Amino acid sequence: MIDRSKFKALFLLNPEITYLNFGSFGGCPRPIFEDYGKWQLLLESEPVQYIAHNGVEYLRKSRAALGAFIGCDADDLVYVTNPTYAVNIVAKSLPLQPGDEILATDIEYGAMDRTWNYYCGKAGATYVRQPITLPVTSHDEIVAEFMKGVTPRTKAIFISEITSSTALILPVKEICAAAKALGILTIVDGAHVPGHIPLDLSNLEADVYTGACHKWMMTPKGCTFLYVKKEYQHLFDPLVVSWGYQSANPSHSQFLDYHQMQGTRDFSAFLTVPRALEFMKEHRWNEVALENRALARLLYPKFCNLLGTEPLCPVELPYLGQICSVPINTAQPEKLQRLLFEKYRIEIPVMRQESRIFIRYSVQAYNLEQDYDRLYDALTEIAANTDLINI
Ligand SMILES: Cc1ncc(COP(=O)(O)O)c(C=O)c1O
Repeated sequence: MIDRSKFKALFLLNPEITYLNFGSFGGCPRPIFEDYGKWQLLLESEPVQYIAHNGVEYLRKSRAALGAFIGCDADDLVYVTNPTYAVNIVAKSLPLQPGDEILATDIEYGAMDRTWNYYCGKAGATYVRQPITLPVTSHDEIVAEFMKGVTPRTKAIFISEITSSTALILPVKEICAAAKALGILTIVDGAHVPGHIPLDLSNLEADVYTGACHKWMMTPKGCTFLYVKKEYQHLFDPLVVSWGYQSANPSHSQFLDYHQMQGTRDFSAFLTVPRALEFMKEHRWNEVALENRALARLLYPKFCNLLGTEPLCPVELPYLGQICSVPINTAQPEKLQRLLFEKYRIEIPVMRQESRIFIRYSVQAYNLEQDYDRLYDALTEIAANTDLINI
C-alpha cells in the first residue's frame, strides 16, 4: 500500500482543497519543481550560455531521457508547450486536398476538434467525427465501430489514447495496426498517457504521437512532446518560423531545427523531464500508478450508483486509468462545479461532451480515500437540497 500522506506532503497543491482534478493540468511535486528553479536560475545567471551555446545540448539530454522512457529515438521527438501546439504543427502542414477526410471519434478533446475543423475548412477537407456508442462494451467493438468511418478519402486518423471528458482508454494499438494495413497515417493524442499508463512507441506503430509531460509525469506546466516517425518528419513545417528554417548552421536533423529553434524562450520546463523520471523511479511509480488505477475502479460503481447512472465501460483495467468520468444528470454543470469548489472546497471538473455531462475524478498518489468520501457526501447533500443534480 502506498503512503498517501507522504505523497501529499511532496506535492505543492493547496492542502485546504480536495484536489480531484489532477487530469486537467497535473501537479508538480516539490523535488521536480526545485529542479525547474535550478534551470531557471541558470538561465538568468548566464542567458547567452543557456540559450545560445548550451541549449541544444541540454535539450538533447532531456530528449534522450524521454526517448528511453517512451520507446523512441531521441531525434524523433521535439518539445512543445502543449498538445494543442503539437497538433497544430501537424494539422497545418498535412497536405490536404479538397474532399480529403480526417477521421476521428466523436469523443475527442474540444481544442483538437476546433484545430482540425479550422485546417480542414481551409483546405476544403472534412473532419469526420465517427460516433462511438456509449457505454463501450469491448475494445473489438470500438475498433469495428470506428473503422466503419474509413472511406477512400480518409487521409489520416486522429484519435485520443485516453479521452478527455469520457476518460476512456481507447485501443489505439489495434487502430494503428488497422490503419497501417490500409496505408492511412495515424496521429495519436496521448495527452494523458505518459506517466499514467505504459507507453512504448516502438510497439505502438503510431506515425505521429503527442503526450503531455506536465500531466501524469508531473513536470512543471508547458512541457509536451511531439513524436513523428522519421519517414514523415519532412512533412511538417515549423509552426513559428525562426532561425531553424533555412538554418545557417543546420544540424543533422531538419525536424529538430524546425521545431526546436523557436526564438528566445525559457525552455526550463522541458529540461525537468530527467528529474521527473528519476522521481518516478525513486518512488516506484509503476506500482503507485497501478494502485491508483485500482482505487479509481473501486470508486467508479459507487459514484455511478449514487448518481443513478451507468459506467461508460466495463469496470476493468484496460478501459480505465486514474481518471473516471461518471455520467451525471444536471442542467447546470458549470454551476455545480462552482458550488463544489466554493462551498465544499473540492476541485473537480463537470464536463460537457455535446449534450452529455460527466463529473470526472482523478486519483493521484496524494489523494486519500477520505477525499472521495468528501465528494460523495457533497454530491449527496447537493442532490437532496438543490435542483442541480437529478438522481
Ligand atoms: C485528450 C486531450 N488532449 C489534449 C489535452 C490538452 O491539450 P492542451 O493542454 O493543449 O489544451 C487534454 C487535456 O486535458 C486532453 O484531455
